[in-house]
Amino acid sequence: MIKVSPSILSADFCNLERDIRLVSSADYLHVDVMDGCFVPNLTIGIPVVQSIRKHTDMFLDVHLMIDKPLRYIEDFAKAGADLLSIHLEADHPTRIAQALKVMEQCGVKKAVALRPITDARAILPYVEQLDMVLVMTVEPGFGGQAFMESQLDTIRQARAIIDRYNPACELEVDGGISPKTAPLVVEAGANVLVAGSAVYGAQDIPGAIAALRAAH
Ligand code: DX5
Ligand code: ZN
Repeated sequence: MIKVSPSILSADFCNLERDIRLVSSADYLHVDVMDGCFVPNLTIGIPVVQSIRKHTDMFLDVHLMIDKPLRYIEDFAKAGADLLSIHLEADHPTRIAQALKVMEQCGVKKAVALRPITDARAILPYVEQLDMVLVMTVEPGFGGQAFMESQLDTIRQARAIIDRYNPACELEVDGGISPKTAPLVVEAGANVLVAGSAVYGAQDIPGAIAALRAAH
């Protein structure tokens, strides 16, 4: 089954509670955390995740686009994240492994994320313990960018690795997902679709979520 994770990066931050309610028919809620260092943009942090947690029961899929994420795993877990994605490019492999261990201890689901430049094989050391792999289909940092078709290969390769070593692991894609690109990523093996502008830019938001979920 295809799942949809609307990205609140495209929501109105002054009306976040209202905009989260608008996507309550979705499977997950995608929360983009950026530090102005790993990516050239700043978004939201721990206090906002804490506030979101108080106002929704949705599954919080928190995408950490931050350097050395190990420093903040415990804080985001305590703030109420259900799943944390850390970028493989954001630290040395030993500290990535350590960050995953801390997630396990904190009881949050574990994901690793790949920038477009990163080879799918980079997930190999971790895949057996992961709940999700996130393949970026744009360069992380901003919403509303064009889908990178070259990432379809990475999605296919990640799918093959997941099927072989940990079939229960989910495969999420993020960036430029729309009714036009969704069938391509689903065909390549993705099962969780992040969408910011395609959901919040739609006239009929529940309809847009349902259309993405029906992509094949
Ligand atoms: C980009 C973020 C995405 C972003 C996607 O770095 O990780 O989650 O919100 O936005 P769209 O769907 O508009 O490309
Ligand atoms: Zn994201």
